[in-house]
Amino acid sequence: MTEPTHRPPRRISPADVLAQDTSNTAHLPGAGTKHRVLSGMQPSGDSLHLGNYLGALVNWVKVQEEFDAFFFIPDLHAITTPQDPEAVRHRTRNTAAQFIAGGIDPEKSVLFVQSQVPEHAQLAWVLMCMTGMGEAERMTQFKDKAAKQGTESAGVGLLAYPMLMAADILLYQPHGVPVGDDQRQHVELTRDLAQRFNSRHGETFVVPSGFYPENGARIYDLQHPTAKMSKSADSPNGLINLLDEPKVTAKRIKSAVTDDGTEVRFDREAKPGVSNLLSIFAAVTDRSIPELEEAYVGKMYGHLKVDLAEAVVERLTPIRTRALELLDDPAELDRLLDHGAAKARAVAAPVLAEVYSKSGFLTPSR
Ligand code: TRP
Repeated sequence: MTEPTHRPPRRISPADVLAQDTSNTAHLPGAGTKHRVLSGMQPSGDSLHLGNYLGALVNWVKVQEEFDAFFFIPDLHAITTPQDPEAVRHRTRNTAAQFIAGGIDPEKSVLFVQSQVPEHAQLAWVLMCMTGMGEAERMTQFKDKAAKQGTESAGVGLLAYPMLMAADILLYQPHGVPVGDDQRQHVELTRDLAQRFNSRHGETFVVPSGFYPENGARIYDLQHPTAKMSKSADSPNGLINLLDEPKVTAKRIKSAVTDDGTEVRFDREAKPGVSNLLSIFAAVTDRSIPELEEAYVGKMYGHLKVDLAEAVVERLTPIRTRALELLDDPAELDRLLDHGAAKARAVAAPVLAEVYSKSGFLTPSR
């Protein structure tokens, strides 16, 4: 049986989360109320790109309506390779501003910066001590990144990265962790570590489930439509950034690589360029791919590009404007993040205290 090639992107629905086995959460305070979801996105550049936005952020915005949602910016993870401190600060604020401008409501969700909640690093240590060297060295992301840096000079932080990520998750006892498929191995390690701690020290952690949007709006590079849209592409021309000026965005769409032939049709194999444009079009307008194919019968690639450029600019401009407004007042942005960190700590601190006590550490008097 062949799969239809234009299945609409699958987004995480409340049913996905509720269908998860939550039997190991029954003893927790608040069990039976709203289910909890947590995710983070690394600030890898100055602006989120369209893949980050359509592939993750749009989903988070939906998730926050139904769940007790925690979203954070993993700035501790950002220094596993050497960084300029000012650039880290700048990217952290930029990312926060784009999350809010893109629809994360800091009143509905808990939005925070990882380094402002010291419990992450504190729990990570305990988890590192429970992870085998071989287990850590088997992580494919570690192997790739260490190979790139040269294994001898790569920082130990690269090896420790997944245990810090496990700490990020386990501190909040979420049921679900919506992440890209590339994070699957890290989520599996998180589950293993949670179970290991629970079996050594008694029920402590919820064992979380990863949610991997199967066909989630997967966005490809406009110049190399078989490669995922990514900051690390050799040319920026294939990227659409949330903070770019609208005319840059329009120009990049109009110069996107298309395919042989003239027919506007979704076919990932034969027409990766046009298919990518159709996916983006569907995702920014909520029109379906078949509907779009129908609308462009007898029209040329150029028509599609002109209309798509307009649709993308229309969707992104308010986000860009709002993000720039937020960035204009960094003190207010910092205040919002500070508030988020306080809410996060209120959840994380008692979990860490339980872990520390079960690990044999004396209880501090204050
Ligand atoms: N490793 C994730 C990424 O690169 C970011 C991340 C860090 C994360 N900690 C997390 C995601 C905890 C989900 C939960 O995308």
